[in-house]
Amino acid sequence: MESAVLRNASVFDDSYLPTDIPHREAEATDIAHEMKMFAKGYPARVIIYGPPGTGKTTVMKHVASSFQSYSTKLVYSNSLLTNTRLGLFSLICDQLGIMMPRRGISSDELISRLRESAKRILVIIDEADSLKEKDLLYALAKSKETMGIEIGFIAITNVPSFLAMADARLPALITKRMEFKPYSPAQVRDILFERARLGLVPGAFDENTIGKIAGFASRHMGNVRLAIYLLMLSAKHADSADRPKITLEDVEKAKDGLMAGLLEKASAKLNEAEKKVLEAVESLSFPTSAEVEERLAPGMSPRTARLYLKGLLDREYLLSEDIHVSGGGRKRVYRVAYKL
Ligand SMILES: Nc1ncnc2c1ncn2[C@@H]1O[C@H](COP(=O)(O)OP(=O)(O)OP(=O)(O)O)[C@@H](O)[C@H]1O
Ligand SMILES: [Mg+2]
Repeated sequence: MESAVLRNASVFDDSYLPTDIPHREAEATDIAHEMKMFAKGYPARVIIYGPPGTGKTTVMKHVASSFQSYSTKLVYSNSLLTNTRLGLFSLICDQLGIMMPRRGISSDELISRLRESAKRILVIIDEADSLKEKDLLYALAKSKETMGIEIGFIAITNVPSFLAMADARLPALITKRMEFKPYSPAQVRDILFERARLGLVPGAFDENTIGKIAGFASRHMGNVRLAIYLLMLSAKHADSADRPKITLEDVEKAKDGLMAGLLEKASAKLNEAEKKVLEAVESLSFPTSAEVEERLAPGMSPRTARLYLKGLLDREYLLSEDIHVSGGGRKRVYRVAYKL
């Protein structure tokens, strides 16, 4: 049966590449500039940091798709898939069209083939925190001296302390650091509206529903991936009730579903009390430990709540961050870590 809500489901896929990427114009210009300068002969050893779902991969792919150069080859690598030096060099050879013998090949041999190709190579290393070899970026930074071929990199990460954890010699060699700041609620709303226009039947959504979803994403550091996913779940919820329009209740139910999914995945590993703590964090907006404790009282003692908070944080069900409070000072707040 045809859906009265959904027009094009593919725009909700994570692999969907939007043609427009609003609110990231400055970042796209900066990245394009780095690529152009590399093609002109300058080094590029760039680190991009930003929380999940803030458009890093999307912007990068967009800029890369319009990059053109005779001298320079761009290579995109995701470290979740390619996380060793040999893996990365094989990928580069592959994308340069260099044939590889079936018997396998050593990294030295790979490098000499790369050198013959006489191209400058700029690798985009996405999810760089998943690299297995800690000195890989350092090796690339030194590639001109050690391999006779310059390999620039743009490494993308959502670990703030990425450089501090990397090879100690690396930070001094970085030519540029960029940060993708979390989207504001208004920016998330803009992006969601556009996606809704593309994917949903006109009239199936309005200011209120989109605003509510945007508010949810804002509590998760402007994670647009989460927002888009919740929009799709909300549409699905309305659809399954045979309603042509998403209601606030659909959004609420979809959000519960998201939480339930997380709890279900975790159910074997979390006890009832831990689940309660997770739910309390979700129901509040960036709560402090004290606020979570208050929500759980009197059923749970503050001390127990604190212990569970810490345990959930250590096991990455929760994330915490220190934020500035008006009038100076800082406070530590918590949010649920949805792994999408
Ligand atoms: N400015 C934007 N305009 C339109 N869509 C966006 C924008 N920013 C992000 N998105 C969408 O949000 C989703 C997540 O974006 P993306 O994958 O680029 O995030 P990321 O920063 O790479 O996250 P992670 O750190 O988890 O890899 C994608 O579906 C993307 O299409
Ligand atoms: Mg990404």
